[in-house]
Amino acid sequence: TQDLDTFNLDLEGLAVEGVAVEGADTPFQHEGRELTIDPDAVLATGVETTVVVDYGGSPTPIQVGTDVFRVGWHTDGRDAYVVSEPAGAASWFPANDHPVDKARFRFEVTVPSDLGVIANGLRTTTEDAGAGRTTHVYEASDLMATYLASVVIGDLVFVEETAPTGLPLRSAYPRRLADAAATDFADTAAMLEVFERRFGPYPFETYGHVVADEVLGFALENQTVSIFGSDLVTGRGTIDAIVAHELAHQWFGNAVSPATWMDIWLNEGFATYAEWVWAEASGGRSIAESARATHARSDFGVPPGDPGPEELFQATVYLRGGLALYALSQEIGDEAFARLLPLWVERFGGGTASTDDLRMLAEELSGADLAGFFDEWVYGAELPPLP
Ligand code: TRP
Ligand code: ZN
Repeated sequence: TQDLDTFNLDLEGLAVEGVAVEGADTPFQHEGRELTIDPDAVLATGVETTVVVDYGGSPTPIQVGTDVFRVGWHTDGRDAYVVSEPAGAASWFPANDHPVDKARFRFEVTVPSDLGVIANGLRTTTEDAGAGRTTHVYEASDLMATYLASVVIGDLVFVEETAPTGLPLRSAYPRRLADAAATDFADTAAMLEVFERRFGPYPFETYGHVVADEVLGFALENQTVSIFGSDLVTGRGTIDAIVAHELAHQWFGNAVSPATWMDIWLNEGFATYAEWVWAEASGGRSIAESARATHARSDFGVPPGDPGPEELFQATVYLRGGLALYALSQEIGDEAFARLLPLWVERFGGGTASTDDLRMLAEELSGADLAGFFDEWVYGAELPPLP
């Protein structure tokens, strides 16, 4: 978007051996998270450039904000998994580690041959790499934010199915959890149908779940292959809300990513709302009842549109965020709201969108002036009463 004398990539904890820009050895500095590259010639606006970074080392996860959980590449030296949201991609590859800079990814992972590998997208080849090792190649053909890139390595059982819609479903579970996982993820195809009806076509080439052999206490919506902690998988079939939540992120968060991290409620509020959609569609409580029950816990403290950099994933972002979307549906009416969600993905899918983009789209569909509505529901200190 502008001429550059120098440019920066994010990379933390790994050593850079060399950088080439358009094939030419190029000076660089690497301090902390900043890799500053200083090409001989100015990089001109709008001209594509190839940059190769030669780097290596043993990745360690990164501390972001006040979250005690560190993000990025985790390994015990044998198994590995990646959970990067919001800024952990820099722990394992150099990138402009922000959702505005999406890319297509190809992963070439060489591991001892008794280990399995899954990554975003589809497996294209598996080749003997000699010395008891195997190289697994995955390609993700849709644009993806860096924080959603993931590789999982472990003693994995692979399950390959096709959804009624024709979508390939590709999952991988630690061997001892395979039966429990089959039960806990059994509703995925039904959820896909419900969400495609509400949100528009599923945005990617495949979907599935990978269970890390690690007590994580959470799940993360890595693009095309959501990751779950082993503790979530019990075989009791009680995690539908989480399964629905991560699936919904494929539309809201992954296809349409937040323009800034302050817009994180566009991910988490929408995914929370989608939990309510699935509850209603599967014979549980109605969306309105879910909204009422959530509203009753109105001790959120902070507005969803301004959680601050230290606590991006605090409850208000999820719950008051979900309430804001529900309130918007009431404000603009069912007809406009039914068009809003698929149009949001159609218009902004493959890129990013902001809270203002949502306001303008909702205004376009309803003809209403929604500035006051967003001020109250997204940015207001007090949780407004439910409409
Ligand atoms: N986006 C995740 C969810 O709500 C939560 C999350 C944010 C997370 N950052 C994370 C999970 C880092 C694991 C690691 O589904
Ligand atoms: Zn979420």
